[in-house]
Amino acid sequence: MTELKKSWEKRLNGQPDELTVDFMQSLSVDKRLYKYDIVASIAHAQMLAEQKLITRDEFKQIKDALIETSQEIADGRFKFEEIYEDIHMALEAALINKIGDVGKKLHTGRSRNDQVATDMRLWMRDQIEILQAKITLLQKAFVKSAEKYAEVVMPAYTHLQRAQPVVIAAYLLSFVEMLERDYLRMQNCSRLLNISPLGSGAVAGSSLPLDRKTTANQLGFSDISYNSIDAVADRDFCVEFIFDCTMVQMHLSRLAEDWIIFASGEFDLLRLDDSHCTSSSMMPQKRNPDPLELIRAKTGTVYGALMAMLTVLKAQPLTYNRDLQEDKRHIFAAADTVSVSLDMACAIVTRVKFKTDKIAAGLEEGFLDATALVEYLVRKGLAFREAHGIVGTLVARCEKDNKKLADIDLSELKQHCSSIDNDVYQYLGAAKLADKYITAGAAGPTQAGEQIAYWTKQLDRR
Ligand code: ARG
Repeated sequence: MTELKKSWEKRLNGQPDELTVDFMQSLSVDKRLYKYDIVASIAHAQMLAEQKLITRDEFKQIKDALIETSQEIADGRFKFEEIYEDIHMALEAALINKIGDVGKKLHTGRSRNDQVATDMRLWMRDQIEILQAKITLLQKAFVKSAEKYAEVVMPAYTHLQRAQPVVIAAYLLSFVEMLERDYLRMQNCSRLLNISPLGSGAVAGSSLPLDRKTTANQLGFSDISYNSIDAVADRDFCVEFIFDCTMVQMHLSRLAEDWIIFASGEFDLLRLDDSHCTSSSMMPQKRNPDPLELIRAKTGTVYGALMAMLTVLKAQPLTYNRDLQEDKRHIFAAADTVSVSLDMACAIVTRVKFKTDKIAAGLEEGFLDATALVEYLVRKGLAFREAHGIVGTLVARCEKDNKKLADIDLSELKQHCSSIDNDVYQYLGAAKLADKYITAGAAGPTQAGEQIAYWTKQLDRR
């Protein structure tokens, strides 16, 4: 490929030296935008032809050459050269190299400022669809697993202390809920970003009769931007996208942390599949949850990207500044990290096994039935605070005598509260209590069953 003399080099006496060229280039990062740059260029060129700014034949030549370049890149035959600075210049140079002077007409009425903003919105729209599909797959994995454990009771924790009995399904479905919010946030982000800045030029628009609505339509944007100054300076959608990514990754890190703890010998609630564990180079007994630890740690990359993106924009004078070139590495880092983490999480959830026998055997430890006893007393007419105090006393007593609440005989219970009857034993013992939750959205088998039915239907539609 012959070197394209950059048109603005006529303006300057010297050329940037090698260090500067290398420092300024973004090609190594933004070449992954090539498809979007080409699609947007074809839409732009078609509009130029319709507006009679270039001929039909020139449009055809431009379009064919761009498609050819796209194919070369896809096949790995295209040589990216850093001297072209970024993907926009590299593709324009390739175009001019192929078709000569006609290629020089493509940039009519366009600046890289509106071009790059367009490319990024197109990329992000697709990326969001991919991430949404991965979120859905993970939600489905949780629902499938929930079906397996629809009626099995486990302890739920608050403050990482044993709290109340819940069905495992309800625990698993809690992740489906949080992922649904992530899905919707992404959807919202996609809707908001789907407007076309193309035709805003460098900052002020153009004195040429560009038809912005046509290019917007052609590229699937729902509208055009209505202020060229804002259009080239705006990267709010990048911040928002990364924020949405941080929420996904944060949710995955909570899952990771839970399961690292649950898989430990101390908790021993579940077994990760062998394929998702590593052993130790020294201690032969180890089954380490490294993939979960990495999901947890990768959260730093995504949070870092959010802070970096916000800082790129902070106090940046209007409108475009080269600072904005740094946006790409952060949106890519966030998207790539969340993408692999979702894949890994999905694989882990698909194969995890809860240790139901072990869980059942340990269920009566830790007074998971204490709250149910309080509610029993409330139903017998006691004020909640009074009931709470009585049960607190009973628990302290049991702890001292190394007993469970269910081991206390009726006469002793009656000494603490005369309204206690023989029916109290239906409410003692954690294993049978999840059945008794009656509030909407509670963590019992009935509600979990309803949620499984709801999500199965909902997610099947996607
Ligand atoms: N590589 C640049 C970026 O990503 C493209 C826009 C350059 N525009 C400019 N006026 N120097 O932001």
